[in-house]
Amino acid sequence: MAKIGLFYGSTSGVTEEIAEKIQAAIGEDVCDVYSMEEDFDDVDDLLKYDYLLLGCSTWGAGEVQNDWREPLFDIEVDKPDFSGKTIAIFGPGDCECHGNHFVGALGTLYEQFKAVGATLVGAVSAADYRFEKSTAIRDDKFVGLPLDEVNESEKTDQRIADWLELLKADFPIPAT
Ligand SMILES: Cc1cc2nc3c(=O)[nH]c(=O)nc-3n(C[C@H](O)[C@H](O)[C@H](O)COP(=O)(O)O)c2cc1C
Repeated sequence: MAKIGLFYGSTSGVTEEIAEKIQAAIGEDVCDVYSMEEDFDDVDDLLKYDYLLLGCSTWGAGEVQNDWREPLFDIEVDKPDFSGKTIAIFGPGDCECHGNHFVGALGTLYEQFKAVGATLVGAVSAADYRFEKSTAIRDDKFVGLPLDEVNESEKTDQRIADWLELLKADFPIPAT
């Protein structure tokens, strides 16, 4: 079975914890996990996989987590070919303190990987979320899976489970 590469950037450990939950749910034999800070060398690491789960928290005012900055810059400049790659994005934010820029990083990753030919899947209805504004919305849906460990942590496990169920249509996630 084809493997999934999960790459995450995390400043205070929240995205890391979510990444570990996702890996545990999919299975360690199917899903390899990489910290963008510790394990990532260059874009070729991403290109080894046809199926990618990308985790990124939002910082500043709607910006990507620090460890994603350089790789995204490289992708913008070098334009590596991601056609044939299936990508789904997830990431935590804070809908109360940062409700005007809620999970903006998801929107940035979405646009950048789409621009180099990737197929982006895993959009999630915005109806279950409370926020003011987000650059991660397309056609009333988030472009990936937003999570909020600050205000709605009780929803996280179910949100992940529902999302992985949705991804089964496009990812080699084993049936449970
Ligand atoms: C200084 C600061 C800025 C933040 N900016 C945003 C933001 O613009 N949008 C958002 O949704 N969350 C924002 N957050 C919330 C973080 O994304 C959230 O705490 C997340 O869980 C951090 O995940 P990490 O530990 O994996 O980096 C911000 C948090 C801090 C402390």
